[in-house]
Order: sequence, then C-alpha cells, then structure tokens
Amino acid sequence: MKLVIVKDYNDMSKQAAKLIAEEVTRNPKTVLGLATGGTPVGMYRELVSLHQQDGVDFSQAQSFNLDEYVGLPSLHPQSYRTYMNENLFAHINLPEEKTHVPQGDAEDLEAECKRYEQAIAQAGGIDIQVLGIGNNGHIGFNEPGSTKDTTTRVVALTQSTMEANARYFDSIQEVPTQAVSMGIQTILGAKKIILLASGEAKAQAVSQMLEGELTADVPASLLQLHPDVTVIVDEEAASALSAKLRS
Ligand code: F6R
Repeated sequence: MKLVIVKDYNDMSKQAAKLIAEEVTRNPKTVLGLATGGTPVGMYRELVSLHQQDGVDFSQAQSFNLDEYVGLPSLHPQSYRTYMNENLFAHINLPEEKTHVPQGDAEDLEAECKRYEQAIAQAGGIDIQVLGIGNNGHIGFNEPGSTKDTTTRVVALTQSTMEANARYFDSIQEVPTQAVSMGIQTILGAKKIILLASGEAKAQAVSQMLEGELTADVPASLLQLHPDVTVIVDEEAASALSAKLRS
C-alpha cells in the first residue's frame, strides 16, 4: 500500500480531492465509491470548490456510497443520503439519478443488497473507492470479524461504532443498530482505493492496517490484498507507525 503522510486534516482533504478530480478529468465516466462520516467532509468541500472554481465536470460520472443506516428513510436528517446531498451532490453537476446510496428503509433488505451489488456490476465496477477507517479498524460498516468474501449485506453495528456515531444524533439510543454495507469483497473489487485518516484516535487502527497481520479482526488490514491502495493520513493518525514507515 502506498502511504502518504501529510501535516493535517486540510492537507489530507486537498490531496484526496486532487486524486479524485484527476481521475474524473482523465475518465469523465468514472464510477466513484464514496464514504460518509467526519473524515471526508473536507475532501467534499475541496471537490465542490474544484467543480465551482476550476470547472471539474462530474456530469458523466456515477457514484455508489458504501453504506446506509437500516430503518432511516432517505430524507431523514441523519441518513447518509442526506449527508451526501448536503456535503456534495447539491453542489456539483453529478446527476441525481447517477448517485446511488443503499436504501436503508427498503421493505426487503436482502433484495436491496442484491440489487445494489448488481447495480455496481452493471456500472462496470467502481473505479476509485474512498474509505475512512473506524477506531476499531472497520471499513464501510464491515466490523471486526468481517471476512474478505463478504458482499453488500445487513450488518450489526458494534457498540464502539454506535458510540462514535452518536455525535450526529440527539442520544446514543437514536443511533440505528444496523446498516446496509458494501462488503470487503465489494470494496476489494474497486480498481483503486484511497483511504483517509485524521487524528490520534485513528493511529492504532492505521498502524494495524499497515503493519499488522492480515486478519478479519481488523477489516482494514484486508486492504493489504489490493494492488492499488493509497493511504493518506495526517501526522496524528500516523503517530503509531514504526519509524521505518514514517521515514
Ligand atoms: C462511512 C463509513 C465508515 C467511516 C468510519 C470513520 O461511510 O463507511 O467506515 O468511514 O466509521 O468515520 P469518521 O470519518 O466519522 O471517523
């Protein structure tokens, strides 16, 4: 995996946005894999500015989000569809019908998971997948124990993930306990992957991902199996890495 250590959150966001913009410029029909959470907010801000100031054109691109909470209607204020609308989709020229987020309130969730996998395949697969990392090493909502053969499915969120995400809800009781998430196999199917991490809380997970053994206990370590991963971390998130990797 290629490791890029930058000074801070702003630099991480700029570098990541630059890679995405280059990809979309090189291949206007890029299929983007997108993440939510706190980490990519700055990257989306940069992408909006690259579109509005520099004319980066998303009109022929498509996007697939990693995950969505089970039970939340698309327009719920805390749904990942709403997050994507607010942070990116409303500000760039990616047509709405080309944006895909799993439907967390689908009546038949199993059918929804299958449909989502098929839609990704029909689009020709994901060209560039953006990932964050959980404090527990999850990617998407693939919690510890998720194996490399998993595809889009309903997953149970761990207590630590619900605690980490409670900041977006009025109380932890309101955080959904399940999500629909792309699997590890779905993620590893992307042609390129960019993983972003910022802040000391991620340092341990980043070190286990890059320097630990390949294990389902740290789902991000399974990215070692992929031939084209760029990990962009700030100095705090890199603070538990060995001197060898940091140099
Ligand atoms: C988000 C996602 C998660 C987050 C991870 C880190 O779509 O799939 O894996 O990337 O939980 O979240 P933040 O960025 O809020 O620390």
